[in-house]
Amino acid sequence: ASLQKLNTFGIAAQARWLLILTENAQLQTLRQDAALSALPRLILGGGSNLVLSDQLDALVIHVCLTGRKLLAEDDNFFYVQAAAGENWHAFVQWTLAHGWGGLENLSLIPGTVGAAPIQNIGAYGAEMQDYFHSLQAFDFETGNIVTLDKADCQFAYRDSVFKHAYRDRMLILKVSFALPRQWQPKLDYADLAARLQQQGIVPTPQAVSTAVIAIRQSKLPDPAEIGNAGSFFKNPVVSAAQRAVLLQTYPRLVSYAQPSGGFKLAAGWLIEQCGWKGRSLGRAGVYEKQALVLVNRGGATGAEVRTLAQAVQADVLQKFGVQLDIEPVFF
Ligand code: EPU
Repeated sequence: ASLQKLNTFGIAAQARWLLILTENAQLQTLRQDAALSALPRLILGGGSNLVLSDQLDALVIHVCLTGRKLLAEDDNFFYVQAAAGENWHAFVQWTLAHGWGGLENLSLIPGTVGAAPIQNIGAYGAEMQDYFHSLQAFDFETGNIVTLDKADCQFAYRDSVFKHAYRDRMLILKVSFALPRQWQPKLDYADLAARLQQQGIVPTPQAVSTAVIAIRQSKLPDPAEIGNAGSFFKNPVVSAAQRAVLLQTYPRLVSYAQPSGGFKLAAGWLIEQCGWKGRSLGRAGVYEKQALVLVNRGGATGAEVRTLAQAVQADVLQKFGVQLDIEPVFF
């Protein structure tokens, strides 16, 4: 089966086996089949954080579970739940249309609800973990459906337990969020605050969402037009001492103080300084408007993307002594 339309990088990968998951019961059937359950598995949501090889000798499970609802409400929160296959942005818009604010800074992020906890998606001063309540997942090891709370998920910057101990073990079925009744806009990201202020707009969840959408559209390539997986590297965190040394040579270094005492560097700036912005290697390239995003210039293979990523990493390491970690998952 071709996966070209199922990954936002648009890589023409072929999967040996493809399961379209629409009901939990299919997972029990799968688990009882010795041959199928022995195969390497790739759990696929929106395919927006993934770089695929050409031939996957694996069982690809495309998660197409749907449904979303208000579970409960109390004095402080609205508790909403969505199935893993729901489109993330459509889910966010649905919450906003009901007047439940909170997720607006995370508007227009590609992918599904079920994928959101895996890398703890974040943008414009918010992270999914800030609104996460709990999730249900199928445990391939035991065959049980388990409920995991926030602590179980071990969220960190673009990271969770699903990238480590639970990788290949858990399939996320449903995710619940606690959205605050007492809504406060999060305007830490300077461009977002500036945009709302310029327009003289009183921030509402909808207004913040509209502004976030406009900012994203101005910088980030639409996967429907140019294959990509969003930011390709994490922004690296360095010590205060290392930042001080770098500032001596590079006074325009872009960095943000972290609660840990370290500083997060803008990887896009580091990559741009290495001359990579807008360049290509084979059919993979560095996006013109945002150097942190690698793109498919047409027909790129996963191997070409990897080669480009390694070349960028090597140059940043050589020039700044900083290691860039890759954000999407290679499979
Ligand atoms: N910059 C450059 N050149 C570039 C790109 C960036 O100099 O080509 C510098 C600029 O100074 C800019 C700063 O880097 O002000 C930060 O850039 P930007 O605001 O575009 O954000 P980012 O740090 O590159 C991160 C997230 C994005 C998220 C934005 C906004 C990561 C890995 N990426 O990017 O998330 O949308 O902040 O919050 O943390 C994603 O994860 O896929 C993603 C798009």
